[in-house]
Amino acid sequence: MIVTIDGPAGAGKSSIARQVADRLRFEFLDTGAMYRAVTLGALREQIDLDDTEALVEYARGTTLRWEDYRIYLNGEDVTDEIRTTAVTNAIHYLADLPAVRRQLSLQQRQIAEGRDIVTEGRDQGAEVFPDAECKIFLTASPKERARRRQQQLAQMGRHLSLDEVLEKQNQRDAEDRGRPLGALRPADDAVVIESDGMSSDEVLERALEIVEQAIEAQKVKDC
Ligand code: DC
Repeated sequence: MIVTIDGPAGAGKSSIARQVADRLRFEFLDTGAMYRAVTLGALREQIDLDDTEALVEYARGTTLRWEDYRIYLNGEDVTDEIRTTAVTNAIHYLADLPAVRRQLSLQQRQIAEGRDIVTEGRDQGAEVFPDAECKIFLTASPKERARRRQQQLAQMGRHLSLDEVLEKQNQRDAEDRGRPLGALRPADDAVVIESDGMSSDEVLERALEIVEQAIEAQKVKDC
């Protein structure tokens, strides 16, 4: 069974998706990590980010592996390195390219094939897994997401004003929503969780409830 969890940056998808997978003993796939890893590789190779052909060629020549919640780029574990601001700022150059998206989407389908898996990203329910048995779109208001992000950054010793965080977030939202292929949007059959005012435990319980309903519906279908 495939469970997709999509939503904008800062909605808390990653933590919820991991916990849902854990509780149900499903596997977990972080598709953002795949886009991040290929971007890190392109930066390391100093590829001109405006040279779309070179980016597509680079992406075609790379091997990504996802194992035990770690992402490997050409065999090297880059899980920690992909979280830098430089990578985050450059992702859109690759994520905007349909050829790169098709390649990564194909790999995502191969990883999920025949598995019970929770897959998290932007386009999982609407484009990569249109037939997924359970689709969740997790979101929150821009201000709430920025406030949470500001707290996370402060815990890491980076103190930014709410306006600064909000400005960066608005830019990422615009990039994620404006993509010609793989744009951030809820699938028509996704259940939306709008998490303003909810604790993370409440969000987790709501997500589990949605997945459990889908599991029950699937059992009835299989009968
Ligand atoms: O989930 P994240 O913030 O780690 O994702 C990083 C970026 O990767 C995000 O800004 C957009 C891109 N991405 C994407 O285009 N499609 C996905 N399925 C997942 C992420």
